[in-house]
Formats: sequence, structure tokens, C-alpha cells
Amino acid sequence: MKFAKRMERMQSSEIRELLKLTAQPDIISFAGGLPAPELFPVKEIAKVSHDLVEKEGQQLLQYATTEGRPTLRAKIAARMKDKYHTEVDPDEILITTGSQQCLDFAGKLFLDPGDVVLCESPSYLGALNAFNAYEPTFVEVPTDNVGLIPEELDKILSTTDRCKFIYVIPDFQNPTGRTWSLERRKKFMEVINKHNLPVLEDNPYGELRYEGEILPSLKSMDTKGLVMFLGTFSKIFCPGLRLGWVAASKDVVSEYVKIKQSADLHTSNFDQGIADAYMENYDLDKHVEEIKALYKKRRDLILKTMAEEFPAGTEWTHPEGGLFLWLTFPQGCSADKVFHKCIEMKVAGVTGDAFYPNGKTDRNMRINFSNMPEEKIIEGVKRMAKAIRECM
Ligand SMILES: Cc1ncc(COP(=O)(O)O)c(C=O)c1O
Repeated sequence: MKFAKRMERMQSSEIRELLKLTAQPDIISFAGGLPAPELFPVKEIAKVSHDLVEKEGQQLLQYATTEGRPTLRAKIAARMKDKYHTEVDPDEILITTGSQQCLDFAGKLFLDPGDVVLCESPSYLGALNAFNAYEPTFVEVPTDNVGLIPEELDKILSTTDRCKFIYVIPDFQNPTGRTWSLERRKKFMEVINKHNLPVLEDNPYGELRYEGEILPSLKSMDTKGLVMFLGTFSKIFCPGLRLGWVAASKDVVSEYVKIKQSADLHTSNFDQGIADAYMENYDLDKHVEEIKALYKKRRDLILKTMAEEFPAGTEWTHPEGGLFLWLTFPQGCSADKVFHKCIEMKVAGVTGDAFYPNGKTDRNMRINFSNMPEEKIIEGVKRMAKAIRECM
């Protein structure tokens, strides 16, 4: 079979093989980005699903509008106001099949082969893969501990043609766990406005803040309709429902609607009904508080155990929220070597180079702390510390 040329660019088989290694059942895995399944509100979902089918079964099992369930879109608009101080009209929201679907749609909407996508260096692998299918060139914008460096972005935009949009994760970034400061957000928006550059603001983790103040979303600071905000129920409810959304100006949403019509007509009506009914009958805020309490405990434990166990010269970020932290190994200690040593010792993270679209670092590893129970966190960090020592 002769596949399309774009397939040559899709995720390298090497990374897929690495991820397979991390999925062995007896491994302590800090590799995935999985929420803690013990917190899924299974009983409540069983109840609302049953009631929903009884009440509106025929409608629920029928085709529905592409934009999404109106009452759910209204609830999302209210939540964006409440949680992110971001005012959007329900008509400015399109429900998508996870926010991942909208990453693909953004590629389809903006990118011709050879166009430039700007992203933080490093950035979320799943987004890079989604854009990659549309054959862009990636330009990485330098970052530091408080986010993307706006002056560097300004320089790039002043000297680079064909920049179609920038993809950013300002809150508890995947993979680094870093959060942009307020100052950086303001400066970033100045640069964006100066160059009229569309922004894809991906925010799956924003509600999961364990310390510090909530900072305004870029969308809430947008005066020109340049920011498209991606949200999701995956990390505050259940990822298996595949429910996300994009909030953008009406003319942009209507372009995404056209794309969605030809992709899958609409997101599962049944799943949308479940989320809507859950929010109607139960307290999603209370549920999010339970998630935060558990993840904060796990974050504190992993930070404490790393401080006790890791050899001098190893550094890591201190995430104020979200699911990830980012390790930097001592000079001369290869992440690839540590990874393979870790697999021998039955523990796993993800090597950092996968998160740089143009490839580079061999000293970083992304660590997820939301999924493993406490005793496995302690044991996993101890094993990893031994692996690092053996690779120094
Ligand atoms: C930064 C980021 N964006 C998007 C996604 C996709 O999320 P969803 O489950 O809503 O498709 C993830 C998943 O981990 C993510 O980390």
C-alpha cells in the first residue's frame, strides 16, 4: 500500500516502542499522563446514565447538532467565568471529542505544508504530533522557569515568515509543570497583538492548582479575538468520556464547526448528556477539590522523596498544580541511558527529547505524579535515584 507522504512525519516508531516498554504491568510508571482512576465518580455516573436514558433515551441516542449540547455549553461558559474569569458566550463554544480533537482541527484550519507553528520549547508531544500531520515547520520559542520569553517571540515574529499560530500551555505545562507569571502573560499578549498572531491556549490542568493564586487566562486578556482556549473534562472528571471544548470568537468557532461536521458530525451525545446531568445533580467543584487533595498529597510526597533520594546535581521543577514535573539530570548523565536503566529496574518516566519538535536535550525526563499510589511513588523514586547514580 502506498500511504500519504504525511505519514512519513508521524510519530517515530522509536518513541512508540519506548512507550510500550513503560506500559508493562509490573512497572512503576511515572510515564503516562493518567488521572487517578480511583477518583472517577463511577456510582454517580451509573445513576445519571440510567436516569438519563429513562428520561431522554430517544433524543440522546439520535444524531445531534455539531456545536454540542446547548445546556452543557451553557455550563461550560459559566465555569469558564467562575474558574478562569473568562467571559465567553455559549455560542462561542464548540464541544469536541477531547481537546485533542481540536489540536488536530487547528492544524487542519491553519496549516498548509511549510507553514510555521510556534510552540514553547519544550511542548506537549500530542499536540506536536497532531500538527505534524499538516506538514508544518516548527519553530521553538525559548522558555525559562516563569514561562515563554516574550522578547524572544517578538524577535522570531519579526524575522520569520509564514507563522500561522502559536501553541502554548501557560498553566502547569505538559511536560515541565511550569506556570507563566502574570507579567509574562501581559507581555506575551502585547507581542501577540503587535503581530496579530492567533494563539492556541491549551488549558487542561488549570483547575488543578495546589498552591498560589489563580492567574488570568490569556483568553481573558484578549482584546482582538486572537486567542482560542481549549478546555477539557479529562482531568477534572473522566478522560474516557472524551469531552473537550474550544472557546473562540464566533467566526473562528464556525470554521471549527465546518471541520467537525466532516470529521465526526458531533461529539457523542450520550457522553455530553452524562457530563451535563452529573453537573446538574452533583457538585463538580467538590469532586475537583477531592482530586486536588489527592494529587497535592502525591506531588508533595514525590518532591520530598526526590529531595531525599536523588543524587546532587539532579534538578526538578516545583509544579504549583497539574500532573507533571520535569527532571534535569547532572551534566554528562544521559536521559536515554537513565531511561533504559530505569526500565531494567521496573520504573519509567518519558525522556525529554520527545517534547522538542526539532529534537535536542538528552538530560531531561518528564515525571507524572497523579497516577501511582503513595507506596509506589516512594519505591519508584528510590529505584530511579539508583538508576541515575549508575548513569553518572
Ligand atoms: C497539554 C494537553 N493538551 C491536550 C491533551 C488532550 O486531552 P483530552 O483528553 O482532552 O483530549 C492533553 C492530555 O494529556 C494534554 O496534556
